[in-house]
Amino acid sequence: MTGPHPGEPGAANPGTPPWWRTDVVYQLYPRSFADASGDGVGDLEGIRAHLDHLSWLGVDALWLSPIYPSPMADAGYDVSDHRDVDPVFGDLETFDRLLAEVHARGMRLMLDWVPNHTSDQHPWFLDSRSSRDSPRRSWYLWRNGTPDAPPNNWLAQFTGGPAWTWDERTGQWYLHLFLPEQPDLDWSEPAVREAMHEVLRFWLRRGVDGFRADVVHLIGKDPALPDHPPELVGTNIVHSHDLPVTHELLRGIRAVLDEFPGDRAMVGEVNLRSPALVAPYHGVGDELHLAFNFLPMLGPWDADFWRSTISDTLAALSAVEAWPTWVLSNHDNPRHRTRYGGSEERARAAAVLLLTLPGTPFLYAGEELGLEDAVVSPEQRVDPGGRDGCRAPVPWTPDAGHGWPTQPWLPFPPDAAARNAATQRADPTSVLHLYRRLLSARRGSPALHRGSWTAVPAPDGVLAYERRADGDRRVVAVNFRDAPADLPLAEPATVQVASTGRDEGAAWSGTLLPSEAVVLVPTPT
Ligand code: NOJ
Repeated sequence: MTGPHPGEPGAANPGTPPWWRTDVVYQLYPRSFADASGDGVGDLEGIRAHLDHLSWLGVDALWLSPIYPSPMADAGYDVSDHRDVDPVFGDLETFDRLLAEVHARGMRLMLDWVPNHTSDQHPWFLDSRSSRDSPRRSWYLWRNGTPDAPPNNWLAQFTGGPAWTWDERTGQWYLHLFLPEQPDLDWSEPAVREAMHEVLRFWLRRGVDGFRADVVHLIGKDPALPDHPPELVGTNIVHSHDLPVTHELLRGIRAVLDEFPGDRAMVGEVNLRSPALVAPYHGVGDELHLAFNFLPMLGPWDADFWRSTISDTLAALSAVEAWPTWVLSNHDNPRHRTRYGGSEERARAAAVLLLTLPGTPFLYAGEELGLEDAVVSPEQRVDPGGRDGCRAPVPWTPDAGHGWPTQPWLPFPPDAAARNAATQRADPTSVLHLYRRLLSARRGSPALHRGSWTAVPAPDGVLAYERRADGDRRVVAVNFRDAPADLPLAEPATVQVASTGRDEGAAWSGTLLPSEAVVLVPTPT
């Protein structure tokens, strides 16, 4: 970790990049990480009991998907109390203990913050729904209409039906861009802004280092809630909703973070599908600190795709002096190993790429074990969005229970007898050890942390680039093809890390194996 902890003096040390530019963030899906209580669902004590794994691995910051009380219609992204912990995960005391231990290990902790909507069971919505005269009626987006004609043509994610639910009792529709159980808040209401700011302060006072802000680009709404234009009818509004008013709201949110010492940071889920559209969400250093870049999760395992994605991303973000982020897997999408055809070689090469690009990398729990999505039968399905496969429990041990005291809420990913933390920790050739070596190489190299990025000429199907900072240099080469490729360099180089483990510490041979990636240290003569 770089930089002091919140509250310590000198947190903003001029010249030192803030932690959110240098740290590697590890996303934990609390339901699936580790279960201490024995109910088959992961919890905070389970996380605490496995902090050794994370310290040993060498990640710097943790992001927890939602831990708040929730009816779990959308696995906690339907919050019914923003200032507590759901009993399935623990309580505020177990949270404080976890936070203290994370900090004691020199790591940071970020929470998920869900600003666009609440649960329909949140007291705010229950109150809002109780009567048209409720003082909180204006906290949500209620509109007139008749029961057979929703106020506009927007569709809800996950149901594919209208983004509106008719409320029989009060005779109006309410808006929900996601499930009917997730009514959208109206951020034009000052009391909503204040209440949600107070939620941030509640956790910032407890000492969290920052937040991942869920679909934060959706919070600004045109009060007229106009129809989706004809060319977008039937498409998901979540991927196109992009209004100027959101920037004003983000500046207000940023000001709350800035009230606190210690570089508190927010990474926003701005689920627009182009870096040029996402870039403005950083403002001029007065909106989001970071925003997710989802392009790599949507594209193929292909050198040209990656080359153009990297240069488009860097061009769009450098134009606004913003810092990129990189992510291959998360709780909403098939894991990258699954997307890349199940190939361990490709998953290893992808790890080299992820951890050597310019920007803040986000890992998703279990990718360090080379996990694929679990096969989830129709009877085992839980998620209305069909995302159970990537949310399967992390296997810790090779035995049938895989370190879970009882059968977990979802089946384990494939081959858990080999793809588990204990087995891989004992095997220096494992995917887990590769991640550890990469994280260590990254930590020790200014070029990999903050250096420039320049493409290096390479044969078809190979992506090669140089990173450079203050005399420190690395050359990275990734072979996307299932055939060997020659990559002679103009100068001698030593292999620092290879996705295959081959020749580490030895001179670069000039040839990549099929689906191999390497980090090279040039050694000028
Ligand atoms: C994005 C989250 O990542 C996803 O899991 C959730 O379902 C939606 N936002 C709605 O909160």
